[in-house]
Amino acid sequence: MLAVERLSRHFGGLRALEDVSLAVRDGEILGLIGPNGAGKTTLFNVVTGFLRPTAGRVRFRGEEITGWPAERVTARGIARTFQNIRLFREMPAVENVVVGEHVRTRATLLDALAHTRTHRAEESAGRERARALLALVGLAGRETTPAGALAYGDQRRLEIARALATRPALLLLDEPAAGMNAAETEALMALIRRLRDSLGLTVLLIEHDMRLVMGVCDRVAVLNFGRKIAEGSREEVRRDPAVIDAYLGRRAERRAPAAQGAGDVVLAVEDLRAGYGRGDVLHGVSLEVRAGQIATLIGANGAGKSTLLRTISGLLRPRTGQIRLGQVAIGGAAPDRIVGLGVAHVPEGRQILARLTVEENLRAGAYARRDRNIEHDLAALGERFPVLRERRAQPAGTLSGGEQQMLAIARGLMARPRLLMLDEPSLGLAPQFVDRVFEVVLGVQAGGVPVLLVEQNAQRALETAHWGYVLESGRIATQGAAMRLLGDAAVQRAYLG
Ligand SMILES: Nc1ncnc2c1ncn2[C@@H]1O[C@H](COP(=O)(O)OP(=O)(O)OP(=O)(O)O)[C@@H](O)[C@H]1O
Ligand SMILES: [Mg+2]
Repeated sequence: MLAVERLSRHFGGLRALEDVSLAVRDGEILGLIGPNGAGKTTLFNVVTGFLRPTAGRVRFRGEEITGWPAERVTARGIARTFQNIRLFREMPAVENVVVGEHVRTRATLLDALAHTRTHRAEESAGRERARALLALVGLAGRETTPAGALAYGDQRRLEIARALATRPALLLLDEPAAGMNAAETEALMALIRRLRDSLGLTVLLIEHDMRLVMGVCDRVAVLNFGRKIAEGSREEVRRDPAVIDAYLGRRAERRAPAAQGAGDVVLAVEDLRAGYGRGDVLHGVSLEVRAGQIATLIGANGAGKSTLLRTISGLLRPRTGQIRLGQVAIGGAAPDRIVGLGVAHVPEGRQILARLTVEENLRAGAYARRDRNIEHDLAALGERFPVLRERRAQPAGTLSGGEQQMLAIARGLMARPRLLMLDEPSLGLAPQFVDRVFEVVLGVQAGGVPVLLVEQNAQRALETAHWGYVLESGRIATQGAAMRLLGDAAVQRAYLG
């Protein structure tokens, strides 16, 4: 169906893709994996016409499409989703899907302006189809919700529905499971199988979640430093020593968190209610984080975890309830005052400053500091994240997804906070970097800074934390020592898969 032949794409001296050949067979689900920055998204960008190749060709159903503009590629039958979600955030979910249909509708712009019958008929048929697609991806009932107000994992499903609206034969998915917990990933796997088995689609899938890759892919190809290093069945790839070295890594020894003393309460949240628009998302949440502690907050997409962090960091006003940092009441204070008091919040989905360089982003993280150790900290972070040191002059927006995630975390550390809040730090990271991030979390705690960690990877979060809170529909449903929650049957069923 798709043949990529000796494809290269360079950025200055950087070989993001180098001489890659790959064939996707009709009706298969092919996985594309590899470390952060390996060139996976670049391959999607070249195939779909977002980037021109430096060398090589792309063929789709026998026809050469190399260098075609993106709209033409889409119209020919290739659709994609984006690693960094691209939705019209203010528009209702259903309208985002309708937009996808427009590449296919027959009515011309003139019809649209004249409001002719063809146009109206197609519009209502289009909206019907869009609703059906939303139901297919599991978003029935959310049709009128603005895309930006959906939980992150739901936005990823909406991206799939929009891609399907262009009626593709080949669907390219860029990290569809990012931001989903174990149960949601299961549902996504079933959806991807259904797309192939019932709709007859061919799927090329980039994903770091190995359970998903091994669960749905017929074959897997592996990129490393822009080159293809392996291709074959799941089993062949899983056992390939080059893949293990470059990507899967050997199970690092898990460091348990340093014992937590009976520290003072650093953050106290009491009976907090908050939300957007008319409804509440948090219905009276209480929790605390003590000195020397890693506390984790787990729960499904849309449970309110990110909303809680946003309220603590002042991005959202609490409606009732208390938030205290040490002795100081911070509920309702301005975000920069809260940063100044020592709360660093690494938001979900990166939100780095795309036009600034890597180094400028890191320095921005230290803006509230008055001490002289900033240069020292920059150098130390360069040791921890070598890629950020290598790329210090690169505009942050051109980093790969995983590289941006590392930058977001490093920027949070640059604040030398009293409390570090991380919203899904493992999002989009290759397995060996997930290990590194949890190491960083342990290092922060060992250095005396308590951490409030929100994670979809509930297993790893509970293995790393001292205390866990389970948030369900805006309420703390369960809390306890993280070790105990790991063994709790209900928690296992709902979140550990
Ligand atoms: N416009 C650009 N200028 C310079 N470097 C770039 C540009 N675009 C991409 N790169 C670099 O090319 C490399 C490959 O990026 P790509 O986004 O394809 O990686 P990826 O395999 O998708 O990684 P991830 O899993 O982290 O998303 C990265 O190191 C990235 O920093
Ligand atoms: Mg990518």
